[in-house]
Amino acid sequence: MTDGDFDVLILGAGSGGYACALRAAQLGLTVGLVEKGNLGGTCLHVGCIPTKALLHAAEVADSARDASKFGVSATLDGIDMAGVNSYKDGVVARLFKGLTGLIKSRGITVIEGEGRVTGPRTVTVGAATYTGKSLVLASGSYSKSLPGLELDGERVISSEHALKLDRVPASVIVLGGGVIGCEFASVWASFGAKVTILEALPRLVAAEDEASSKALERAFRKRKIDFRTSTPFQSVKTTDSGVAVTVEGGDVIEAELLLVAVGRGPSTDGLGYEEQGIVMERGFVLADERCRTNVEGVFAVGDIVPGLQLAHRGFQQGIFVAEEIAGLDPKPIDEAGIPRVTYSHPEIASVGLDEATAREQYGDDITTITYDLGGNGKSQILQTAGFVKLVGLKDGPVLGVHMVGDRVGELIGEAQLIYSWEAHADDVAPLIHAHPTQNEALGEAHLALAGKALHAHS
Ligand code: NAI
Repeated sequence: MTDGDFDVLILGAGSGGYACALRAAQLGLTVGLVEKGNLGGTCLHVGCIPTKALLHAAEVADSARDASKFGVSATLDGIDMAGVNSYKDGVVARLFKGLTGLIKSRGITVIEGEGRVTGPRTVTVGAATYTGKSLVLASGSYSKSLPGLELDGERVISSEHALKLDRVPASVIVLGGGVIGCEFASVWASFGAKVTILEALPRLVAAEDEASSKALERAFRKRKIDFRTSTPFQSVKTTDSGVAVTVEGGDVIEAELLLVAVGRGPSTDGLGYEEQGIVMERGFVLADERCRTNVEGVFAVGDIVPGLQLAHRGFQQGIFVAEEIAGLDPKPIDEAGIPRVTYSHPEIASVGLDEATAREQYGDDITTITYDLGGNGKSQILQTAGFVKLVGLKDGPVLGVHMVGDRVGELIGEAQLIYSWEAHADDVAPLIHAHPTQNEALGEAHLALAGKALHAHS
């Protein structure tokens, strides 16, 4: 006899866990959802949603600062962080309320507290024990640091601390030029802080196509964001006024704050996974393409599974697992088909293979085309620079779409369909894109790839 037996027991109510819960309940399964924090997890409370609210406030600040470019008289008189935070927290609160209501209305049992796997498909929360015919591990991730680098939450901070700042720092060193580093660098630069990014690898957002990194670096340079690539961090000392960071080679850089954005680690420590015989690697849970661990009836989704640590990947895996458990035989998720967006100013959006990876796989059968947003009416109206780059297989499908420019993140849906449906340039070229939109740039790039470029391209 336990405190609750469910068809599906889920550990963690972040994007992966709650999506699984909603879909499983919709499919008529009984669901227990264990959560120690708030429903919605990192994405809703300390990740995607609040950071994108900050980025939107940053865009508003840029619009005010640059108003004269459009003939509008306005000035940026300052950033009221209390006001920014209240806007951001309001967005989170409304979404949280909606999600809580939705979960309740689906009859999902929410079990509040820290769960630990203590037996086959069994989770213990405090003194209570729950079982599931299937168990889904969805315990998420945490902000990593480097050995010996302690996050004190005051001078040396993670993105979670950064979201709670009640002031715009005068200066910040951002350690790590990945997605989080570039997004926060972008926000703080818009808010008027002096920003320096330190990146160990030779380029910013190194997981993206090289052309996207170069374009972001150009834009950041123009925005006076200082970035130092091929510059590994060595040590930090706190000073009276902030931090002094020493990089390899001996240079010392000072600022008010150090943001550590060197990746996220899987939250799996002490949760009993290994004790139950689940195969792990460097703290991650290994799962196959059907999200199954090596233990019968135990699934894993989201950031604890090696691969892209993106909310929408976890979300889709959660839905997949619910359908798998319900016997619907869903189609496995293609990791390369997961869209990726960095919401900096300018944005980077991509899906599929970058040029280097495509060349490794297909050699000279690859063809690429880059359409400059300079030729796109809406981008000119917005005064944004950038491009749409396509990587295609000669006489074959589009293998990758890479875009840079303000708001290009909104174009990724079409790019994802093109990639996932293995469309050829000739299939896309005749599609009619509304004018004037940035979507036209996607259409124009496919015309060019099909050898029918109407406007100039490079
Ligand atoms: P990341 O892996 O994207 O970037 C970390 C960067 O830190 C890397 O470029 C790495 O080379 C650098 N680094 C590591 N050690 C270093 C050292 N000692 N010195 C200098 N540089 C060093 O990780 P990030 O940005 O922390 O993001 C974590 C996860 O969250 C990522 O998987 C990301 O995709 C996800 N995320 C996604 C967002 C989105 O989709 N818009 C937004 C924010 C995060």
